[in-house]
Amino acid sequence: MKKTILVAGSLNMDMVIEMGRMPAVGETILGDTLSYVPGGKGANQACTVAKLDGSAVMLGCVGRDDFGEALRGNLSAAGVDVSRLKTGESSTGAASIYVDGAGNNSIVVIRGANQECDISYIDENDSLLRQCSYVMLQMEIPYETIFYVIEKAKEYGKTVILNPAPAPGPREIPEEIYKKIDFITPNETELMMLTGVLDCGRESLEKGAGLLLKKGVGNVMVTLGEQGAALINAQGSTYFPARRTAAVDTTAAGDCFNGAFVTALAEGMAVPEAIRYANAAASIAVSRKGAQSSIPDAKEVQSVLKESQLNGNNKNKD
Ligand code: RIB
Repeated sequence: MKKTILVAGSLNMDMVIEMGRMPAVGETILGDTLSYVPGGKGANQACTVAKLDGSAVMLGCVGRDDFGEALRGNLSAAGVDVSRLKTGESSTGAASIYVDGAGNNSIVVIRGANQECDISYIDENDSLLRQCSYVMLQMEIPYETIFYVIEKAKEYGKTVILNPAPAPGPREIPEEIYKKIDFITPNETELMMLTGVLDCGRESLEKGAGLLLKKGVGNVMVTLGEQGAALINAQGSTYFPARRTAAVDTTAAGDCFNGAFVTALAEGMAVPEAIRYANAAASIAVSRKGAQSSIPDAKEVQSVLKESQLNGNNKNKD
């Protein structure tokens, strides 16, 4: 039987505006297209798990509106168990996303109903927490809920993965929580914000990760965009280069990486192998537009991995 991955997190409708370049502060520019795409870091990660043939169940909250219905429907069609999603009183969460001609993005999230993902709702779904094997979280639902889920998950002996995005400040995660995180998965900017270590060369990356390890985190996995990912733990640091791809839109690439990584772990892959798998999945996501619309399926990831093996470009760098 497949091991279940529980994702407690956000669901947003992404309003994506494509434009040649980002506007400067105070500037008005003409954009090219506007589209509505299912997103939200939690939902994107759950969607990735399901599309890669993992078993995903989601806890989160949408509004009683068309966006909520659309998000629920899209996740369910991907294969995520949405039967325990809450319908709140606020509007469904939304994100305004600017994507420039080079595939870079800027995102502003309005949390809306995600704010109603509260502790009593988690308690109502305690049986899910007990039954699953992995618990994944991000930072778009209330912090007190996130920390509560982490506490519970550890009490029940689950593997906890925290993607600290959007990044909290250095003192926003309580000290006692760090010890309960098996994998923390910031990108470089999030690592800086989380630790206060301010420039992003390899040395400071390892210094920042070292601070998190000292606080008791099991493994720090830093996503490095087109450079791939780094795993830093008590055994040392290992770098996993990414496959070269022309980026069309990097939205949700990190979510795809996280979802793919945990799916691979749940399938029994060792951590390095799971990171290679996640790198391959993310390299496909960046070549497509949108959040959930960019997530590959398992066959696509397998074919990229095969191609990488043939080209011999999937080796680690220490
Ligand atoms: O990580 C990408 C996601 O961030 C988007 O889908 C948006 O909704 C925000 O949550």
